[in-house]
Amino acid sequence: MVIWFIGMSGSGKSTLAHALYEQLKPKTRHLVYLDGDEFREMFRNDVDHTVEGRRKNAERISHTCRMLDHQGIHVIASVLSIFPEWQAWNRENFSDYFEIFMDVPMETLRQRDVKGLYAAADSGRMPNVVGVDIPFPRPQQPDLSVDQTMQEAGVGYCVDRLLDRLPELD
Ligand SMILES: Nc1ncnc2c1ncn2[C@@H]1O[C@H](COP(=O)(O)OP(=O)(O)O)[C@@H](O)[C@H]1O
Ligand SMILES: [Mg+2]
Repeated sequence: MVIWFIGMSGSGKSTLAHALYEQLKPKTRHLVYLDGDEFREMFRNDVDHTVEGRRKNAERISHTCRMLDHQGIHVIASVLSIFPEWQAWNRENFSDYFEIFMDVPMETLRQRDVKGLYAAADSGRMPNVVGVDIPFPRPQQPDLSVDQTMQEAGVGYCVDRLLDRLPELD
């Protein structure tokens, strides 16, 4: 199956996805973690952060997840996914798809500004920032939303709530 984290930059995708991976890996041999930013770097950043660049990255990630999934490898992916059509493709093409939406308000993301993206975008120094000049379509049918209140209870708490909802991985 593919467990897919969606959310804007700084919403906690990588933090929570990696924590979930660490928790599951000791008892789940066939499990890989795939992060959208790392994936982009693996291809020497040959796609940029424009909508078209992002579309290519999303397409590559979804196809890679499908290849792994069809070989019996579970995938945890954290991806700033802005394409509803690729989310629909995921649901149709993976043996099992569990989508988690990191539902954190823009105001909090701006306060966190983990990578300094929002400050740079707001001052006009950086284009192609999702949530500023590229719209972020809210996922329509996530299997689970992780909101700010839940996040405030801690990463461990969020991982436990996820484990409550996820099927057993063999
Ligand atoms: N419960 C939580 N789950 C995930 N991240 C959290 C949580 N609470 C606070 N955070 C913080 O939110 C930020 C999320 O950053 P990151 O995981 O890099 O986001 P993304 O991968 O979505 O860009 C980190 O500073 C992290 O410590
Ligand atoms: Mg990340």
